[in-house]
Amino acid sequence: MDAAAPNPVDEAIISRRSVRAFLPTPVPQATVEELLRVAARAASGTNTQPWLVHVVTGAAKTRLSSAILQVFNDPEALPQHQSEFSIYPSAWVSPYLDRRRKVGWDLYGLLGIGKGEHARTHAQHARNFQFFDAPVGMIFTVDRSFGYAAWVDYGLFMGNLMTAARARGLHTCPQFAFAQFQRVIAASLQLPDNEQVLCGLSLGYEDSAAVENSLRTERAPLEAWASFHV
Ligand SMILES: Cc1cc2nc3c(=O)[nH]c(=O)nc-3n(C[C@H](O)[C@H](O)[C@H](O)COP(=O)(O)O)c2cc1C
Repeated sequence: MDAAAPNPVDEAIISRRSVRAFLPTPVPQATVEELLRVAARAASGTNTQPWLVHVVTGAAKTRLSSAILQVFNDPEALPQHQSEFSIYPSAWVSPYLDRRRKVGWDLYGLLGIGKGEHARTHAQHARNFQFFDAPVGMIFTVDRSFGYAAWVDYGLFMGNLMTAARARGLHTCPQFAFAQFQRVIAASLQLPDNEQVLCGLSLGYEDSAAVENSLRTERAPLEAWASFHV
């Protein structure tokens, strides 16, 4: 390979970032189907392919967003909706807590939302449930019979999907925020009982004028997390 030429796979991976404001520009269903077919080339333990993807657009997306927002904006109903699995540690340790805080402060700093501005913080979090105005939303579910190992496979699938999106000029935001609303999502999408909501994702074209999309996250240097045993 020509060292001067950028590797297109690396380019797609490195140019991926979580986009939190999208243009209304539609994404044709054929493109979404192509992305999903590419993503499904992911490896999975014993080729189980545990991904179950619910694509929402148009009226179905609006219905889902409204149903979640109704609960999210109701202080009495909200505490009754919790993720069925622990997304993050109950007791945070360093360096993870520091990284989590930094990305939060950086994002809210860009948006001019200060500490203690609860209404504005809530409104920004609510943007998740509008899929950040993306024309395509996805809800990823997994059969409840699977253990955590299948979630590794799922991560590979989602990584492929996000990389393939970049290769087509599209952007994404993966969203655990949806996991809190299993019951609302199950009712809206008529999910069978065996499907557990794992994550959501927004897909579309970036609104590059939106200040939140100027966020650039850091990565710890290799030495901080890779050990070479020889
Ligand atoms: C599985 C997963 C779930 C995430 N959930 C959310 C979410 O609910 N809302 C959100 O705004 N960002 C979410 N993110 C985005 C992360 O905050 C983001 O990946 C991280 O800060 C690194 O930034 P980057 O994606 O721009 O490189 C999620 C990322 C992953 C991988």
